[in-house]
Amino acid sequence: GRVLVLAGGLSHERDVSLRSGRRVTEALRSVGIEVELRDVDSTLVERLQSDRPSAVFPVLHGVTGEDGALRQVLDLYDVPYVGADAEACRTAFDKPVASTLVTSAGLRTPPSVVLGHDTFRELGATTLMEAVIARIGLPLVVKPARGGSALGASIVRSTSELPSAMVNCFAYGPVALIERYIEGTEVAVTVVDTGDGPHALPAVEIRPDSGFYDYEARYTAGATQFVVPARLEESVAAACASAAITAHQALKLRDLSRSDLVVDADGVPWFLEVNVAPGMTETSLVPLAAEAAGLELGVLCRDLLAAAAA
Ligand code: DAL
Ligand code: MG
Repeated sequence: GRVLVLAGGLSHERDVSLRSGRRVTEALRSVGIEVELRDVDSTLVERLQSDRPSAVFPVLHGVTGEDGALRQVLDLYDVPYVGADAEACRTAFDKPVASTLVTSAGLRTPPSVVLGHDTFRELGATTLMEAVIARIGLPLVVKPARGGSALGASIVRSTSELPSAMVNCFAYGPVALIERYIEGTEVAVTVVDTGDGPHALPAVEIRPDSGFYDYEARYTAGATQFVVPARLEESVAAACASAAITAHQALKLRDLSRSDLVVDADGVPWFLEVNVAPGMTETSLVPLAAEAAGLELGVLCRDLLAAAAA
């Protein structure tokens, strides 16, 4: 069978995923792999049965793609795929759960509060918001507990900004993660394991022109400056690489992951989140890291597929 790249779907990150899917497909074709790119829809199961793909490269972002649901289906049909298994995805995709696990593994994570929409409404939003600010301090960040690409995420710098940040967040999901805003340098570290153990690619330093790496800053060419490798002291770069590998292992991830970190003024990396199906678009971080490592994207994707099917 052929290799299937699965993208699209119906999550909020559908467009991003289609862009990632095209990029991965082109990259694989450039190294001579026969690939079919599929937008995920209700025909998926039929297709898995009739086409019997030799392996799947899931580039589906957000719910279904990253929460384990898709991978459960692939497991059901015994189709090998690149990336973490269903159970690991479920844990990693839930930011509060992932955060608790990596904290136990020794990583620094921002102090946070988790609030569901129902609780928020029933217990009186105004009182709760005061308590949240008293606990976390300002500035803080509000984001959906499950989601990606900064959709529904805001930085809150004053008390008056919190209500609209909560509303924006709950538009994307029923649970909000509210965490302290860590001042510092944002970096993304890709972890690759193609059979010889996990290793980190060079950290990518993220400098959004607007100061906030939101959806626009992520996917508009030129809206963010990337520095690869990140301008970090050697020991700090090593600490970032080690943090990403620790997260990868603590969450039992496989093949490929990308941890997003903030390095504070003391050079300490704080773990923000990990992506089990990281973006592969023209402005995404994994392809930049691969390039900096002298690794052709097609070769990386091919090796990931080989490891997954092994
Ligand atoms: N969630 C997007 C795709 C990323 O992290 O790259
Ligand atoms: Mg993410």
